[in-house]
Amino acid sequence: MTIILGIESSCDETAAGIITDKGEVLANVIASQVDVHKIYGGVVPEIASRQHLLAISPTVEEAMQKAGLVWQDLDAVAVTQGPGLVGALLVGLSYGKGLAQAIGKPIIGVHHLEGHLLVNFIEHPNLQYPFLALIVSGSHSDIVLAKAPGRYQLLGQSRDDAAGEAFDKISRAIGLGYPGGPAIQKAAQNGDPQKYTFPRAWLEADSFDFSFSGLKSAILNFIRQCEKKGEIWRVEDVAASVQMAICDVLSAKAIRAARLFGVNTIVLAGGVAANSCLRNCLRERADGLQILWPSPIYCTDNGVMIAQAALRKWEKKDFADFSLNACPGLQLYE
Ligand code: KG4
Ligand code: ZN
Repeated sequence: MTIILGIESSCDETAAGIITDKGEVLANVIASQVDVHKIYGGVVPEIASRQHLLAISPTVEEAMQKAGLVWQDLDAVAVTQGPGLVGALLVGLSYGKGLAQAIGKPIIGVHHLEGHLLVNFIEHPNLQYPFLALIVSGSHSDIVLAKAPGRYQLLGQSRDDAAGEAFDKISRAIGLGYPGGPAIQKAAQNGDPQKYTFPRAWLEADSFDFSFSGLKSAILNFIRQCEKKGEIWRVEDVAASVQMAICDVLSAKAIRAARLFGVNTIVLAGGVAANSCLRNCLRERADGLQILWPSPIYCTDNGVMIAQAALRKWEKKDFADFSLNACPGLQLYE
């Protein structure tokens, strides 16, 4: 049996996950920095790096303890190499390299988005290639054709703000704070998604790209107009209508891409995959397509996803050497 430790530190979560090649999750420990960054309305890179430094050892040690393992039980140490904040990435990567060196085990560098994508195999082990993935996070809104392990074709992406970024910026604009996605989803539960029809940027008819920055401008404009006219708006209705506008476009384009490329499964990945409106929009439009998503704990950044993506590399003995460096703009696609 192979046991892999995955370390994630690309943004504002310090995380360690331990899995086996039999698909068992032995530990999943996540130290979130959300409360530290909340007062600034978003992630402050320098603070994120310092918080990672404080959290990295206790997080990994807690994961080892939860799994009931000693260092020598590990077969490999996997780290997020990129993309992400360079200072944040360096903390997990340096710790991982030091650990691997000290215990004499291989080090594996992992692409953060491949982690988000492949974590679906933890709960859906029968998932078959090819499938379509909608990777929606704070920095990505990618429609991806997963052709085979390690072979990913980018079909569409955001031309400006990522979906999670749109949630975060709009949440701040309507006074719901950070992180925006969960806050908007919560407020939307008591709102009417049909109350306001905010703009959807469909772009060219054949494009799988997205654009969300116009939506943010439309909301700011809407608030200004309401103030001018003395009209009252309910934050719950705006949250529900905004959420619907984002999920409408994401789901419609993902479904169209799946049909065009002849795949029968769409998997969701990334922080925004936790959004229930997005899941519902996809399910309602699915018409025979299988729609899968990870549990919320595996949507947000975690170490299990890094260990899961490392398994594929482990099988090919695709190990890094100790010159492995953080790569904020690391590419994944063919
Ligand atoms: O994947 P992730 O944890 O970190 C990145 O790699 O970016 O994604 C974070 C993003 C944030 O923008 C957050 O607002 C969004 O995911 N998010 C959500 C929800 N939970 C997290 N967006 C919509 N609905 C949610 N329930
Ligand atoms: Zn992520």
